[in-house]
Amino acid sequence: MIALGSDHGGFELKQAIMKHLDEKGVEYKDFGTYSTDSCDYPDYAKAACQAVTKGECEKAILICGTGIGISMAANKVKGIRAACCSDYFSAKYTRLHNDANALCMGGRVVGPGLACELVDVFLETEFEGGRHQKRIDKITAIENER
Ligand code: RB5
Repeated sequence: MIALGSDHGGFELKQAIMKHLDEKGVEYKDFGTYSTDSCDYPDYAKAACQAVTKGECEKAILICGTGIGISMAANKVKGIRAACCSDYFSAKYTRLHNDANALCMGGRVVGPGLACELVDVFLETEFEGGRHQKRIDKITAIENER
């Protein structure tokens, strides 16, 4: 199960991603927003990311206008490693090397075709582990200092 969240700036792209996931048979839960009315991206980042950290969802896909604000909010949720991506290489390597569990994109940055490719590679790529695990552990240690 994939958690989805967006603000108004990401609403349209989220609709395209939901259609893509439907076609692929990937299950998701949409944590809002549900219209193009102006709203605040931290609310949707929090709801979708908490579904991930509670174990209800495996990963989150989050969209705002730039992808930046919603990634900042997502990275405040303990246990979330959110990556704002607008290219294929980054979406792939943030899984391989960072074990990212949230993909953030900008609805005003990437088109639906590229966004769906980023979603696919993000969902299909496994973490490499090995030397990268200790770096993830160091991120977690910083988080635990709070
Ligand atoms: C909303 O206008 C916009 O600021 C938001 O979607 C996002 O781009 C923030 O980072």
